[in-house]
Amino acid sequence: MAGRLRVVLDVDTGVDDAMALALATRLPGIELVAVTTVAGNVGIDNTTANTWRVLDWLGAGGVPIHRGLSRPLTGDAIDASHIHGASGLGGLVLPDPATDTQLRRPFAPEAIVDLVNAEPGALTLVFVGPLTNLAAAIALEPTLPSRIGRLVVMGGSLGRGNMTPYAEFNIGADPEAARQVFAACALTMVGLDVTQQVTVTRELSERLVGQTTPEATIVREATAHFFREGAVGSPHLHDPLAVGVALDPSLCTTKRGTVKIETATAWCAGRTTLEENADGPHEVCVTVDSARFLDLFTERLGLSG
Ligand code: RIB
Ligand code: CA
Repeated sequence: MAGRLRVVLDVDTGVDDAMALALATRLPGIELVAVTTVAGNVGIDNTTANTWRVLDWLGAGGVPIHRGLSRPLTGDAIDASHIHGASGLGGLVLPDPATDTQLRRPFAPEAIVDLVNAEPGALTLVFVGPLTNLAAAIALEPTLPSRIGRLVVMGGSLGRGNMTPYAEFNIGADPEAARQVFAACALTMVGLDVTQQVTVTRELSERLVGQTTPEATIVREATAHFFREGAVGSPHLHDPLAVGVALDPSLCTTKRGTVKIETATAWCAGRTTLEENADGPHEVCVTVDSARFLDLFTERLGLSG
């Protein structure tokens, strides 16, 4: 369809990644060209299998999936299974698809290079996990950033982190990859400053009881554990908001400048600080029209019933 945003989505499927995949496949203005996976919320085997099952469950079994890196550029792999559950999908259990033809080679970094080079300036890359695959792609092809149409990153925070007091998880899980990507690319940063303002509410979760659509199943089952006594974390719609901003930047207001990534000290690694300047390469989202995004999310996923 003419005029659709051609998107490559890089995920560490987890709970909110699954909802981002659902939104990306249900927004008429988006054509999901390919999905790449990375280790993050859980290990690469699970993030890849989760992505495969979620896309098939959504009827998007034709979207190619390219498996990516299993560990950060430096340091040890960490995960967020205490938030997303051991599988990465909370209580959501999905069947294996009938075929694995969706799982493709080359691995994610080379696939990103090939996809961008095939249509210079035409692709929107949306990254909602650690930036390891993109840093590796740029290491393979150092001129790649000039041919990326637009880059939207769910990550960072101008305030407190959610992994450490200073680091948001996607940045903190691979600070060196983030440093390399932010140094090389113009991008829109969709950080905790806005993503923590959009959340699946208990009311919405309860409204989905008995609904059997693929979308309702994903949202309800993947977030149910957040509503139990003593739950850790909240079902913030971090990754779905990045998809929304890719299609409709007006959902957020931004500040422009240069974002620096702290890597030197273990305690502050992954901290993102903005040096504001009018011609900087980075647009940082600072406010969000939460009501309008939540309406978009529930309406496009058919959850408004
Ligand atoms: O900090 C939130 C981000 O970290 C989200 O992308 C979530 O899926 C985790 O990857
Ligand atoms: Ca994610």
